[in-house]
Amino acid sequence: MQKHPLVKQILFSREEIKTRTAEVAKEIEDFYKTQDLKDNTLLLVGLLKGCIPFYAEFMTNFNFECDTDFMVVSSYRGGTKTSGDPKIMLDVNTSLKDRDILIVEDIIDSGYTLEYVKNYFLNRGAKTVRVLTLLDKPEGRQVVITPDWSCFTIANEFVIGFGLDYQERLRNLPYVGICDTSKLKDWKW
Ligand code: IMP
Ligand code: MG
Repeated sequence: MQKHPLVKQILFSREEIKTRTAEVAKEIEDFYKTQDLKDNTLLLVGLLKGCIPFYAEFMTNFNFECDTDFMVVSSYRGGTKTSGDPKIMLDVNTSLKDRDILIVEDIIDSGYTLEYVKNYFLNRGAKTVRVLTLLDKPEGRQVVITPDWSCFTIANEFVIGFGLDYQERLRNLPYVGICDTSKLKDWKW
């Protein structure tokens, strides 16, 4: 596959992501079949914009009744390090009272974003809040939070593609790759 010049190494191809996502979707289905959900329906909340390709891949493999909604929570502000101060830029449009929620996220790094969003949903009356992430970077963790389901665990590298951005770009790469951060200082788009 043709690599983008900012990609040092392709970690997961589109095919690998598809296969793994289908496997995890089945696990999640089996889990929620055993739960007593309001209206027998789960609310899938995607954290934009990074969740887009993963969310689409997941939901079309998820054979279970669900409502869909989205949020924009910013924390990275375009660079490669978290600011640790998440802010809601766009809120969900669904009543959360007594709902069972599955957050769909691209990556968990420090954990600040998810901790914030989880607490926000619980404060708004959600019954349960669980987390599905495409990637988990446990070495980056600053708060105690673990995803309920994670497709892949990765080392502490800055990754791009399949929804993940550098300066809001490269989300469209059809794979997850390790960013060649040595090139960023002099990089011109
Ligand atoms: P956290 O709050 O540090 O867990 O970061 C969560 C958000 O930071 C994710 O939803 C991503 O948008 C972004 N992020 C974390 N690590 C990376 C990365 O390696 N590449 C691109 N974005 C990342
Ligand atoms: Mg994100």
